[in-house]
Amino acid sequence: MKVLISGGKGLLAGNILPFLGERFDLAVYDIDEWDITSASRGKELMELHRPDVVLNLAAVTDVDGCEDRADLAQKVNAQGAGTVAGLCAAAAARLVHMSTDYVFDGTKGSPYREDDEPGPASVYGRTKLAGERMVFERLPGAAVVRAQWLYGKGGKSFVDTITELGRQHGRVRVVDDQRGSPTWARDLAEPIISIIEKGLSGIYHVSNSGSCTWFEFAKAIFSILNMDIEVSPISSGELGRKAIRPAFSVFDLTKLKGATGIRMRDWMDALREYLATGG
Ligand SMILES: NC(=O)c1ccc[n+]([C@@H]2O[C@H](COP(=O)([O-])OP(=O)(O)OC[C@H]3O[C@@H](n4cnc5c(N)ncnc54)[C@H](OP(=O)(O)O)[C@@H]3O)[C@@H](O)[C@H]2O)c1
Repeated sequence: MKVLISGGKGLLAGNILPFLGERFDLAVYDIDEWDITSASRGKELMELHRPDVVLNLAAVTDVDGCEDRADLAQKVNAQGAGTVAGLCAAAAARLVHMSTDYVFDGTKGSPYREDDEPGPASVYGRTKLAGERMVFERLPGAAVVRAQWLYGKGGKSFVDTITELGRQHGRVRVVDDQRGSPTWARDLAEPIISIIEKGLSGIYHVSNSGSCTWFEFAKAIFSILNMDIEVSPISSGELGRKAIRPAFSVFDLTKLKGATGIRMRDWMDALREYLATGG
């Protein structure tokens, strides 16, 4: 199968493409060669590669930055996603598109199912939700994979940032009122491969299993690394970031398990392996 990929230099791409490359014939692009907001460039690439599937990993992912650059976020995360879906529809290609837990408001209090009502509180979440909707409008058979709290080698992620801060200062303050599931980006490879190979459509929630707060995540990182760092819990209000994040965004993974048979491993097991192997 031939798979055309956008956003190919991002964090997720860097961690899953080696595995996808073992199963599929990949054509990989990032914004320098394929800006997903350009329908004409997209059409050229569709004609050049004639992909069976497009995997859209491209997005504006700076969650706080999106608050100041709402137009750009809308253009890429919403309209860009719609443009890619339109190209797939015209070329009879399938589409796997990425989305996020930030489409939820975080008030449910129990794990979110794919059919739970979204209610994004940030520009990033709103534009990603608009992207999902445009994708299904133009290509009802598309698959949307919602992910969360990704880390991995390359790119910017919490594990490396907090480790570096700990090394520099010996103590860190970390938010303790947001709960989710830290997920090694590499662990998305198997579900995405399965979704592509089985030709699945609809929304799928994918993350490592179990949950913690960012504070608990930081404690786990320093404990596994045997680093003696003072970790203090703070509230989101104290941190004062621009975008509002959901207080609780743990996923219900039942649909993924039913459709693919994949049981996502616990976030601590994934984290231990990531830190032991360097990704
Ligand atoms: N990271 C997470 O925790 C997380 C959680 C949930 C969902 N997701 C979703 O997973 C997907 C991949 O995220 P990621 O973490 O790999 O993000 P990332 O590291 O920011 O990668 C996204 C890539 O897309 C590129 N890009 C931006 N605008 C583009 C455009 N107009 N056309 C083509 N490419 C463009 C970016 O280039 P520049 O860097 O030059 O802008 C970057 O290389 C996204 O859909 C994201 O919303 C991520």
